Amino acid sequence: MQHSPWRLNVAPCMDWTDRHCRYFHRLITRHTRLYSEMVTTGALLHGDVPRHLDYNPQEHPVALQLGGSEPDALAVAARLGARWGYDEINLNCGCPSERVQRGAFGACLMAEPALVRDGVKAMRDVVDIPVTVKHRIGIDQEESYAFVRDFVGTVAEGGCNVFIVHARNAWLQGLSPKENREIPPLRYEHVYRLKRDFPALTIVLNGGVKTAAEVESHLAHVDGVMLGRQAYHEPWSMAEWDARFFGASGPAPVREEVEASMVEYMERHVAAGGAWSHVARHCMGLWNGTPGARRWRQAWSDHSLKAMSPRGVAARAAASRMGSPSTA
Ligand SMILES: Cc1cc2nc3c(=O)[nH]c(=O)nc-3n(C[C@H](O)[C@H](O)[C@H](O)COP(=O)(O)O)c2cc1C
Repeated sequence: MQHSPWRLNVAPCMDWTDRHCRYFHRLITRHTRLYSEMVTTGALLHGDVPRHLDYNPQEHPVALQLGGSEPDALAVAARLGARWGYDEINLNCGCPSERVQRGAFGACLMAEPALVRDGVKAMRDVVDIPVTVKHRIGIDQEESYAFVRDFVGTVAEGGCNVFIVHARNAWLQGLSPKENREIPPLRYEHVYRLKRDFPALTIVLNGGVKTAAEVESHLAHVDGVMLGRQAYHEPWSMAEWDARFFGASGPAPVREEVEASMVEYMERHVAAGGAWSHVARHCMGLWNGTPGARRWRQAWSDHSLKAMSPRGVAARAAASRMGSPSTA
């Protein structure tokens, strides 16, 4: 059976889903789609483009998420992303942070569907890869389903066929971004309804999903599911996804092998002048749920080991992990 390319996705997360993190996740799941951190059009138009866009070729399929609102700037940024080889350009219409609101993009764009439609069209005109939108079900106290339905209907006119829907409102005043991921209630029914009303569009559900059983139940209603915090904090929960959700028949990933590959990756990163801790910080959940996981994490986050080679730290971490299981 042919699955949607958006069947399972790891959410774009600032400060988390950088290229090191994505390389790590890719070792655990071959088929899941990975998203970059949000990169603003300003950063691409005026900043260090390779620093923002470079990635490892192993990361495919990988999407670049853009933050911006001005169609011409979005088009320039999207073209850069396509030239860099990304598989998708995703526009952020869901971030509620004040910094983003000052720039008049993110979630506040949900109040301007025609502008989003024009931005999507401007990007579609210059790239051949899919242009997708990630958004909320509403802003502030706007609870009606009609609001998100009209948003999707208008933006689809610009040529967006894939909508990733964080199933809660963004409250633009009074909540921090973290609270905005926890306090506004989840309304999965709105997302299911979008799929029923727009059967030709790809609808991906996001927000609060934790277990494979939950993924499975959502997949009965929508084309795909996106996970953020669960994927980041419990990365090994993704180890069963390829077999369970993509029907992959290859060997299942093995924690020891993933760790060994990450150590090699860190060695290369250090040889190129980087710090291994910038990589290791994303891998802290690798052994969660097994005896010694906490001691393993402690070794990898021990600042006094910073000058040691990744291989040396790995040996220490393995020895700590395999110490007394009773103190896990
Ligand atoms: C640390 C962090 C950073 C985030 N940064 C972004 C971002 O750059 N762009 C975006 O669209 N969403 C961002 N989000 C929101 C997630 O993509 C996702 O929509 C949200 O966490 C809900 O999904 P979850 O419950 O599976 O975590 C971020 C979330 C977290 C926890």
